[in-house]
Amino acid sequence: MQKRLGILTSGGDCPGLNAVIRAVVNHATLTYNWQVVGIPYATRGLLERKAIPLSIHGLDLRGIDPLLNMGGTILGSINKGDTLSHVDEIIAGYHDLGLDALIGIGGDGSLAILNQLQSQGNWQFIAIPKTIDNDVGKTERVVGFDTAVNTIVDALNRLTFTAASHDRVMIVEVMGRTAGHLALHSGIAGGADVILIPEIPYTIKGVCEHLAELRDRWERRFAIVVVAEGAQIAADSSNYASCEKLSCGMGQYIADELRCCSNHQIDIRVSVLGHIQRGGIPSALDRLIATAFGKAAVDLLADGQSAQMVAWQNGQVVAVPLETVLACSPCLVDPNNFLVKTARSLSTYIGNVGIS
Ligand code: F6P
Repeated sequence: MQKRLGILTSGGDCPGLNAVIRAVVNHATLTYNWQVVGIPYATRGLLERKAIPLSIHGLDLRGIDPLLNMGGTILGSINKGDTLSHVDEIIAGYHDLGLDALIGIGGDGSLAILNQLQSQGNWQFIAIPKTIDNDVGKTERVVGFDTAVNTIVDALNRLTFTAASHDRVMIVEVMGRTAGHLALHSGIAGGADVILIPEIPYTIKGVCEHLAELRDRWERRFAIVVVAEGAQIAADSSNYASCEKLSCGMGQYIADELRCCSNHQIDIRVSVLGHIQRGGIPSALDRLIATAFGKAAVDLLADGQSAQMVAWQNGQVVAVPLETVLACSPCLVDPNNFLVKTARSLSTYIGNVGIS
């Protein structure tokens, strides 16, 4: 049966979203002869169709080739708003557009909202996980994470040269919200000396001692410290009050603490990578994941399935009930996982075992 399939991107953008759109349009059009419509700005495109009509893109094979390596999302996205106070209008928007099914690409927050909408609206709906935070449950891979890790590692490479030239400690604050996956992966791949993540408590004394050991025992006069934006306040914090609510940012907070702890003997600089981590051309791995997920999502719809998320498990793309995914999202770093152990075994400071 011919379908009219909607597709939207929701939440913070990331590299690889356009590659998903390309795969969905290609497979839905060529294999199943469906019509695909792109819904602009996520649920806003369904909500504001009458008041301020946002243009609904008809998507076909013309012009989709450049999408494979294009960052951002041609559909636009939103990561704020009171969507759940407009459930009825959004559901009406779906029907107004004559949609038979919808593919929603989002992180855990967006997927929770879309799940509620699909359930109340009785939509045929398949989710595709994307986020640079890598915190969606039940999947080993999401669209966007790999590129963000590569972007951070590139920054760490650059900072290492200048740190070494000036005998400095470089503190690099990375995104990730409440999860430490970005900091952990990029910190290991970029050879960081210290990695601070939300899931593992640490002390300023521990960081200072580690830097002193690098200097005194191994004659390393520079260091790279990767700090997740959501890292906790140090267990032995001395200046939390002056940085109250951390309006100064986690990287700056650690820098201030380390200066204090070292009697201003360490020359420290802070880099906050910010939205650079969300931009850029998707890596080969993200293009691969995006393409495989897009294809699988279309096949699930063709198979009559709904309320599922495509997930990467044991090297395969599988379908997982959305409810199950949401029950274990956000998915945080397990402090006992093999990557944490790997970092520790290479004598990276990643928090104090045993403090809580
Ligand atoms: O969830 C993705 C993310 O980039 C987080 O890592 C970060 O905390 C947040 O979005 C930033 O959101 P905004 O784009 O609204 O500043």
